[in-house]
Amino acid sequence: MKKNTVVLLNILFVTLAGVILIFLFNAPEVTTPHVPKDKNHQIFSGMHKKEAEKQCEQCHAQGRKYPLSENHPPKYRCLLCHIRK
Ligand code: HEC
Ligand code: HEC
Repeated sequence: MKKNTVVLLNILFVTLAGVILIFLFNAPEVTTPHVPKDKNHQIFSGMHKKEAEKQCEQCHAQGRKYPLSENHPPKYRCLLCHIRK
């Protein structure tokens, strides 16, 4: 490879890395609510994710205590989005 080409490729690489970094720094803040740390949710803290998720619907299904809003994102695997504190 010619020396000029190498220099050019290096400049390209650095520019690209910079663009990606800027993109990542501008990512929006996390808005997904965490699983609250209260009486209702305490029991899930040490539980296996799949085990815990079976029980969320007891309160968060339609017609229960705290149903999900209609525009709630796809709800398969609650705990992959809602982080436990
Ligand atoms: C015994 C009933 C009950 C169970 C079971 C339950 N929740 Fe909740 N959850 C509530 C209630 C009531 C609220 C609203 C009041 C509060 O913040 O505690 C709530 C709030 C939340 C919130 C916060 C919503 C917000 O607006 O900030 C998330 C996230 C959540 N629950 C996720 C889960 C997940 C995931 C599970 C299963 C692992 C689960 N919950 C199981 C009753 C329950
Ligand atoms: C793909 C990611 C994702 C999954 C999976 C998911 N949620 Fe959510 N959930 C969200 C986001 C994002 C919000 C905030 C929505 C908003 O503010 O409009 C939310 C909001 C909530 C709320 C607050 C009330 C509401 O509807 O806005 C509760 C309670 C909740 N989720 C419980 C659950 C439960 C229980 C499950 C599993 C059955 C689940 N979530 C699965 C992303 C997810």
